[in-house]
Amino acid sequence: MGAIADYGALVEAVDSQKRRLQGPPQPDLWGGDIAKRFRADPKRQMEDSFEALAELVRPDDVFVDAGGGAGRFSLPMALRCRQAINVDPSAGMGQEFEKSAAEAGIENASFVLSDWLDVDGVQGDVVLAAHVTYFVSDIQRFIAKLKGAARRRVIINLSSIAGPMLNAKLFMMVYGEEQALVPSYTHLLPALWEMGILPDVRFLPRGTFYDGVPKLPEFPQTKEDAVEVALAGVWLASQHRERADTVVREKFDELFQQDSDGFIPQWLPEVRQVLITWETGHTG
Ligand SMILES: C[S@@+](CC[C@H](N)C(=O)[O-])C[C@H]1O[C@@H](n2cnc3c(N)ncnc32)[C@H](O)[C@@H]1O
Repeated sequence: MGAIADYGALVEAVDSQKRRLQGPPQPDLWGGDIAKRFRADPKRQMEDSFEALAELVRPDDVFVDAGGGAGRFSLPMALRCRQAINVDPSAGMGQEFEKSAAEAGIENASFVLSDWLDVDGVQGDVVLAAHVTYFVSDIQRFIAKLKGAARRRVIINLSSIAGPMLNAKLFMMVYGEEQALVPSYTHLLPALWEMGILPDVRFLPRGTFYDGVPKLPEFPQTKEDAVEVALAGVWLASQHRERADTVVREKFDELFQQDSDGFIPQWLPEVRQVLITWETGHTG
């Protein structure tokens, strides 16, 4: 099998394990509390990984964020470029995006409710897909659309261990089997090479945790909050919350270490942010 087919097979194996253990996906998996967790103040002190992205964007640019969620990247980018367009199929993410933009007084950012594979006519100078490729089985078409939409540059941002795998240890404790492997850069790069794309790859020094886990170092301060942290995120189906709550309390001392900063999660792997980027050369 080639790299593109391998990639698709991994994503399909993840989806089929989820269906088997958790039933059919909810209509808006990324809506509600999950969307709130992906929201971040557009005027916050920006992380190093954002600065690395922002260096690739010019003040005159139109910035397209494919699967941009609640605007964690596209809203602060809107403050530094001409226009930002977020294309995402989650209505819940869209609501958080609109609220966050309104509260920050950002008027040059818009939300298009659509799967990236279905959207038509969206073009920008720079096109970003951050923490989205993990979920895409038709990776070839997804990448081809990123490339087609980008007048100057495509950027793919990933965690070195795919975001949805960060809670693999909890998944194992609750579901009693290994979580199927969600692909990150080790599978994406060969797929890109197979498409004739030879990108630059940067590993950024500091990792940040998402998927239900607060950005370090905002550690939970009470045991109850710590349990909530463990139970948040898309790894757990809502109907299994009670079971998971029992498991987390039973294993609490293994899962958390308490120190003066609060309760520190022990199950999270070390990750680095990865930026994969190339120029599309549609313009000079
Ligand atoms: C882990 S979140 C990341 C959100 C945002 N990029 C960020 O880093 O904060 C994944 C997002 O990808 C979106 N998504 C999943 N599949 C997609 C697709 N085929 N096209 C566009 N967005 C997609 C989801 O709706 C969700 O908002």
